[in-house]
Amino acid sequence: MEQCKEGGAAKHEIVISDTSGRPPVSKDSVVDLEFGDPTMYESFWKGMGDRGTITIPSWQTISYFSDATNLCWFLEPEFAQEIRRLHNLVGNAVTEDRRIIVGTGSSQLLQAAVYALSPSDAPEPISVVSAVPYYSSYEPLMNHLRSGLFRWAGDACTFKGDSYIELVCSPRNPDGFLSQAVLKSDGGKTIHDLAYYWPQYTPITGPADHDIMIFTFSKSIGHAGSRIGWALVKDTAVARKMVKFLEISTIGVSKVSQIRAATILKVVSDSYENPIPGNQDKVFAFGRHLLANRWKKLREIVEASGIFSLPEFPSETCKFTGETAEILPGFAWLKCEKEGIEDCASFLRSHKIIARGGRFFGAEPKFVRVSMLDRDETFDLFIERLSSIR
Ligand SMILES: Cc1ncc(COP(=O)(O)O)c(C=O)c1O
Repeated sequence: MEQCKEGGAAKHEIVISDTSGRPPVSKDSVVDLEFGDPTMYESFWKGMGDRGTITIPSWQTISYFSDATNLCWFLEPEFAQEIRRLHNLVGNAVTEDRRIIVGTGSSQLLQAAVYALSPSDAPEPISVVSAVPYYSSYEPLMNHLRSGLFRWAGDACTFKGDSYIELVCSPRNPDGFLSQAVLKSDGGKTIHDLAYYWPQYTPITGPADHDIMIFTFSKSIGHAGSRIGWALVKDTAVARKMVKFLEISTIGVSKVSQIRAATILKVVSDSYENPIPGNQDKVFAFGRHLLANRWKKLREIVEASGIFSLPEFPSETCKFTGETAEILPGFAWLKCEKEGIEDCASFLRSHKIIARGGRFFGAEPKFVRVSMLDRDETFDLFIERLSSIR
């Protein structure tokens, strides 16, 4: 478990370029692996044919309401049912006695959770912190609207004070390590961002059991475009405040997306609970196999280059598969070891590779985060390009 690291926070703006989300068109194209766009799952879902396809008649999903008797009145009941079923199947989170809150991606839920935990009567905004290297969107998510209730205060490891909200991302984006809260105080609160606590990325060592746990449809099974996330929340008053935030910001969450998510999650759980021998229809096995191949290729190139290094991860028994499994992060946290290169992102950019520089994560610019989740064409060209760097 890697906790506190040397940092070096600075303000940077993330820019969407015309190469974002597109596969390269030629061998000379820019390789854009800046975003964690999970397009590697596209081929899996293509192989599933019509399983997961939905048709919604035009008269359906007209109302704002899904179930007015539920605290989260815009939560589609089938979606909630499939969420509980999937967590019980994978064993990665406790769902008993938890409220499920749906959000427009987990990004919206992170804001809702911070809003819900912020005192409404404090003279100063509460500090929101996370250990370096932290997920690069935490700062803009907390600061962009200049809330009077909360504000980003950077690295949890250097934070002094008793009143804070700590964001714990485990496995951690960007470096893939499992992590825990670093601050312990009665006045402090934690939010667990478990976007990558799924068996393709890490051995599942047991059900996570925290007060607020946030998951996303994008990284669990690859459907980022539906913009669906969910939170499992222990405390009803906190859940109620989160719902209030979602009411005010978007009056709930698209029902069409929730119905689609429920259908697709059902396909995932069915493939494990009612397996058809020989069928290649298991999304976590697909993800693990692909990531294992990619990590193997990347490690070979990095070792041969002498220019870069990568973190090393321990293996553990995965309670979901019963097998010994290593951590296979959705991002490579690459470090430039070559003398004279201080800014690894600029160095890679000069070789037409776009990756996110360490400073976005509060870390040194010698580091870059490279997405491992893109389509095969993009990843293969990245490997080819990286191996040509001397
Ligand atoms: C750690 C982490 N949390 C949250 C998110 C946001 O995911 P989304 O808004 O797509 O659900 C991401 C996306 O990259 C992430 O990596």
